[in-house]
Amino acid sequence: MAPVSATADHIKALVKSHSSGDDEGFYAVALQVAAKAARQGHHRLAAELKDLVDAARRQSSATVVTPIAQPRGEIADLVSASFPEVGLRDLVVADEVRAQLDQVLAEQRQRHTLMEQGFHPVHRLLLEGPPGTGKTMTAAVIANELDLPLMTIRLDSVLSKYLGETGSKLRLLFDAVASQRAVYLFDEFDALGGDRAGNDVGEARRILNSFLVFLEQASPESVVISATNHRAILDRALFRRFDMIISYRQPTPDEAVTVLKARLGPMGKGIRWPSVRQSMKGMSHAELVKAAEAAAKRTLLASADRVATATLVQALSERSNASVA
Ligand SMILES: Nc1ncnc2c1ncn2[C@@H]1O[C@H](COP(=O)(O)OP(=O)(O)O)[C@@H](O)[C@H]1O
Ligand SMILES: [Mg+2]
Repeated sequence: MAPVSATADHIKALVKSHSSGDDEGFYAVALQVAAKAARQGHHRLAAELKDLVDAARRQSSATVVTPIAQPRGEIADLVSASFPEVGLRDLVVADEVRAQLDQVLAEQRQRHTLMEQGFHPVHRLLLEGPPGTGKTMTAAVIANELDLPLMTIRLDSVLSKYLGETGSKLRLLFDAVASQRAVYLFDEFDALGGDRAGNDVGEARRILNSFLVFLEQASPESVVISATNHRAILDRALFRRFDMIISYRQPTPDEAVTVLKARLGPMGKGIRWPSVRQSMKGMSHAELVKAAEAAAKRTLLASADRVATATLVQALSERSNASVA
């Protein structure tokens, strides 16, 4: 019996298909080698090769990553979908906020148990608080923790592009809420209620009211999140329409240090934190993250690997001056 030989051409084809990630091409060549082996009388080897290819094919179809269901058709320019990677452990919030988020996650995870008994899981959230304190991030965290896509609604584009058709666009959006389980974020929600240019007060009321009617009937299996930086402009009566109001605020000094440490990682070892505290006053989480990033980059460009206390203090004061200006 002749020795089995995969030809040079086979080997080249295998390398090529491997490097271009062409699994099917790779298996096809492997099967050609198996066929050749069979022709040469090496039936055991041929069968083994075939089995290997079959097993590999089963494996790769099982681990195929489901592509994000990007919204199609009419709704596509109203919503963008993502699978965020931030988790609960990344979010630095007060204990009360943390407890509220734990409750949302627990009720959503056990929603079948609740619904069988006629209860709805918490699914309509209003997040309010100053900019940069984690409202948008929270929507991402909830999506990630529940393994759901995050659908961000571009309210500004809904309002400016579809002035006069906002009602029918909202209907489309809430149809999606019912048909695809996901976290739906209406960011800068106050845009709906506020009197924007071209939005007379009557029109604004009407839009807000239709939003609230849809919200009332929203499927409890999706999570609908409205977020706003302007609690004051929202009607108190509005608050009753949500299952839960979560209030964000500027970080405490300890929380601020936690945010900085988290962003700096190992580069932050050796920082004298008591000397930094004074410089973080009044800064939001988002500003702290940006200052940490600025300090880290400056450090790396100076070919160092540990951020010096003075560098961080400098970056913080630049940042807080920038945000005052
Ligand atoms: N509570 C927080 N904990 C950790 N990081 C935060 C927090 N709040 C904000 N950040 C950081 O700032 C960025 C912007 O925050 P964001 O959630 O958009 O603020 P908001 O929506 O409240 O204006 C986040 O992506 C994150 O990097
Ligand atoms: Mg935001």
